[in-house]
Amino acid sequence: MYLEDAAKRVEELRRELEEHNYRYYVLDKPSISDAQYDRLMRELQDLEGKFPELQSPHSPTQRVGGSPVREFGTVRHTVQLLSLGNAFGPDDLRDFDRRVREAAGEVEYVVELKIDGLTVALTYIDGVLSTAATRGDGVTGEDISQNLKTVYSVPLKLKTPLRRLEVRGEAYMPKDSFEKLNLEREENGEATFANPRNAAAGSLRQLDPKVTASRNLKVFAYNIIYQEGAEVDSQLASLDFLKEQGFLVNDQFRLCKNIDEVIEACLDWGEKRNSLPYEIDGMVVKVNSLAAQEELGATAKSPRWAIAYKFPAQQEETVIEDIIVRVGRTGVLTPTAVLKPVRVAGSTVSRATLHNIDMIREKDIRIGDHVLIQKAGDVIPEVVEVLAEKRTGLEKEFHMPAVCPECQAEVIRYDNEAAHRCTGIACPAKQREGIIHFVSRDAMNIEGLGPAVVGQLLDAGLIHNAADLYSLKFDDLVKLERMGKKSAENLLAAIEQSKERGLAPLIFALGIRHVGARAGKLLASNFKAMDALSKAGREDLLEISEVGPAVAESIATFFRQEQTDEFLDKLAAAGVVMVEENRQKSESLAGKTIVVTGTLHKYGRKEIEEVIEAHGGKPSGSVSKKTSFVLAGENAGSKLDKARALGVEIITEEEFLGMVGGE
Ligand code: IVH
Repeated sequence: MYLEDAAKRVEELRRELEEHNYRYYVLDKPSISDAQYDRLMRELQDLEGKFPELQSPHSPTQRVGGSPVREFGTVRHTVQLLSLGNAFGPDDLRDFDRRVREAAGEVEYVVELKIDGLTVALTYIDGVLSTAATRGDGVTGEDISQNLKTVYSVPLKLKTPLRRLEVRGEAYMPKDSFEKLNLEREENGEATFANPRNAAAGSLRQLDPKVTASRNLKVFAYNIIYQEGAEVDSQLASLDFLKEQGFLVNDQFRLCKNIDEVIEACLDWGEKRNSLPYEIDGMVVKVNSLAAQEELGATAKSPRWAIAYKFPAQQEETVIEDIIVRVGRTGVLTPTAVLKPVRVAGSTVSRATLHNIDMIREKDIRIGDHVLIQKAGDVIPEVVEVLAEKRTGLEKEFHMPAVCPECQAEVIRYDNEAAHRCTGIACPAKQREGIIHFVSRDAMNIEGLGPAVVGQLLDAGLIHNAADLYSLKFDDLVKLERMGKKSAENLLAAIEQSKERGLAPLIFALGIRHVGARAGKLLASNFKAMDALSKAGREDLLEISEVGPAVAESIATFFRQEQTDEFLDKLAAAGVVMVEENRQKSESLAGKTIVVTGTLHKYGRKEIEEVIEAHGGKPSGSVSKKTSFVLAGENAGSKLDKARALGVEIITEEEFLGMVGGE
C-alpha cells in the first residue's frame, strides 16, 4: 500500500473507532460487536506500525497507554480551580438562594450529582486533547495527560474543532470495578484501597499509563471553564454541548425553578444515593444562566453561583470487640477500637479512633458495647454514641495501660495534656514511626519504603534506626518476603538518591517536635549547615523571627542528646548531604534560554528546570525568537510547532544529556 492510501485509510479507521468508542462509552449504545471493534483496531495498529509517519498522539491506538514517565510535569491552570462552599441542610440552601437573589434577581438552578472522585482539568486546542491535569493546589496541578488518554470516556478529539476548550470533570471508579480491583489485589497480596475515590486517585497518579489503562476509570464532564467558538448561555446548554462533543455527561441533573425544588432534589438523592453504580457525596447546585453566574462572580475561595450540598454522614451499628493502644512517633498512646467489620459509606471499617481516655469516659465506651459509628468523607471513622440499651452487663471498662505496650516503659500523662505518652527512649514503636516519618515524601522521600517494608526491616533486625537504611545491602533486601529483585534494586537506588535530598528536608526528617517541613526550610536557609544548627543555642534560634520559644527549646533539647550526635555522625559517614548545597554544576548552558515541551523520560518538569539552572541556563515557558533551543520530549505540542515556525533549534533529550555531561 502507498503512503497516500494508507493515510486515507488511517483517517477513516480513526474516525470509525472514535465513533464506536463514543457509542459504547458515552451513549451506552454500541452498534458493532467487540470482535468487529478489535478487528478495526488491529488494522489501524498495523498501518501505524508500517507507516510510522502516520502515528499521532490523538489516535485511538494511544488508549492502551504509552511508556512510563519518571515524574509528572506541572501544569499551570489558566483559570484557577476554586472550591465550593458547603451546605449541610435546607437552611444553608435557603441562605445561599437568598444571597444569589439579592445579587442577581430571580434565577433557575441546575442540581447535579456530586461525584466522589477527583477533579480533572482538560484542555483542547484546535479540537484535540492537549493537556489533562489534576487539581493540585488550584493554581498548578500535575500533568496526567498520558494517563487520561487511556480513559475511554475522555474524547481525544472533539466533534467540532474549537479553537480552545477547557473542561472540568470528575474522574471516578465505578463501584463494581472497585470491588473487582480490590479482590484481585487481595489475591496478589497487595494492599487494598479503602474506597473507590482512593482507588481512582491511585490509578491516576501512576507513572506507568498502562496501569491506569487497566483500571476502568471514567470521567464525567460537568463544567466548561473557558471556550472559544461554542455558543452556550447556560449550564444546561453547557452539559448538552459537552455531550455533543463526545464527553460523558451524567444525565441525572435536574433543572429547578426555585429553591424548594432544589431542596427536594437534594433530599431525594440523599435517600437514593446507594442505588447508583458510582459513589456520590452530595449534590452541586448551580445557577443556570451563565450571565447571572458572571454577575455573581466569586470570592477568593469559591464561586458565589454554586454550592455543594453535603449528605449527612452515614452511620452504622457495630460492636467494639476490643480496644487496643497504638504508639505514635512522639510516644502518644492512642486508644483505638477494634470493630466488628461493617460497611459504611462505601468502605469496610474495622477500626475507629477513640482519641484519648477523656473521650472514652465522656461517651462511656466499653469493650463489648454496641455502638453507632460514622464516617464522613475522608475522615477517620469515629464512634458517635453507645447503644446503652443493648448492654448485657458483660461489657468491660477500658483503662490506659501503665506501661507502654511496645516497650514496657512507664506511661505518663502531663498535667496539661489529654494524651498519655510512653517515656521509653528506645521504644520500638516510636522508632518505627520515626523511620516512617524520615522516609516520607516531604522528608527524605524514599519511594518504595512504606510502613510495611519498614516493619519487615525492623523485624529482621536489618535496621534499628533511620541511619541504618544507608548501610542496607541488596542481599539483605531480596531475602524479605514479597521483595523481588527489581524492587530491591529500586529501593537501593531511592535510598542512594535521598542522600542528595538537601538540608531542609533532612531537618524535617529528623522529626524534631514542632519542626515541620516549613520550619525545616527556614532553619536550612538561616544556618546553611546541620553543624551550625546543632550548635545553635536557644537565643540564636529565637533571633529568627518566625521561631518561638517552644520551637527553640525543642530544637536545642534535640541537639543536646548524645543519641542525636551519634545519629548525625552515621548519616554523615554514609554521605548524606548536610549543607545547603550550591547547586551550580557547570556553565555549559550559560547564556542559553531553553524551552522544554512534551514528556521527558529522565526528568520531571521541575527537575529539568533545576538541571538547566545548575548548568547556567535559563528555563523559559514560551518560545520566541530569543529562545536558544527547544528541548522536545514525547508528545510535544504547540510549542514545537512554534519553534519550527520561528526556525528555533530543536533538540532531543539525548542531545540535551550530551550537553550536560549525561547528568
Ligand atoms: S462544579 C467552581 N459539579 O466537587 C467549582 N463539581 O468543590 C466547580 N464535583 O472537587 C465545581 N461533581 O471536582 C461540580 N457535578 C459537579 C461535581 C463537582 C463532583 C467535585 C469537584 C470538586 C468538588 C467541588
